[in-house]
Amino acid sequence: MGASSLSSPSAPIGVFDSGIGGLTVVAELRRALPHERILYVGDTARVPYGGKSAETVTRYSREISDLLVSEGAKMIVVACNTASALAVPSIALDYPVPMIGVLEPGAAAAVKATRSGKIGVIGTRATIASEAYKKEIRRLNPALSVDAIACPLLVPLIEEGLLDDEITQAVLRRYLSPMLAEGIDTLVLGCTHYPLLKQAIHSICGSDIALVDSAENCALAVKELLKPNPSEDSSDSSLSDSSPRLDILLTDSSEGFLRIAEKSLGLSIDSLAVRRVGN
Ligand code: DGL
Repeated sequence: MGASSLSSPSAPIGVFDSGIGGLTVVAELRRALPHERILYVGDTARVPYGGKSAETVTRYSREISDLLVSEGAKMIVVACNTASALAVPSIALDYPVPMIGVLEPGAAAAVKATRSGKIGVIGTRATIASEAYKKEIRRLNPALSVDAIACPLLVPLIEEGLLDDEITQAVLRRYLSPMLAEGIDTLVLGCTHYPLLKQAIHSICGSDIALVDSAENCALAVKELLKPNPSEDSSDSSLSDSSPRLDILLTDSSEGFLRIAEKSLGLSIDSLAVRRVGN
């Protein structure tokens, strides 16, 4: 199939993540662009990505991007900070459709939000080791201080659906205490799974700390990219013919997926299928 044009209302926005985390981006895309079709791939056979090498995450990202393009996606939203940090810079230009990651919009929002100049970033081991947030924030404003910490236990807890659980709260407290003591006023949720813990994080950080959600900021960046296209304007009557859908492909069956998508994020799913990717 040839590359779909951004102006094609029937072509889906392709979105992917290692698991359910990218659905936080889908929920924000739904809010920002209610008329769009979305095709989501959750790489549930290989989640988590956060402890894997750049080479492996890049291979997975290529395989899934190839699948999305072959399914007619008009753009690829990499709804995964780990893949955004490790793979997007080296693969984005290989595709006939735009590829947008979550990292730059999140870093820009953090720079805008901070008043004290002290920003905290939490993410997977791979994202934090890449220093991608630190570099992007410092590129935007070299005077800012960035305290970044890897939180490898959070993705498994979220994939298990332990969103409001004392174990998750204890783990969060352990991870967040040192940076809270440093006096940060802004915390970047540098993993698309983490907005599912927003309430728990908020109750630990208190209301004085701004939480920057990479999902929300990525959706705004996608909306901006689609803006010149009049078919994305919700006042456009041609949209009455378009059918907003959410189709999901998982690379392995996942019990908790539907429950979290529908209960925690309020998403309604039109189809869900398992599709094998890679070897
Ligand atoms: N949700 C992803 C991210 O934003 C991936 C987490 C993982 O698979 O470790 O980094």
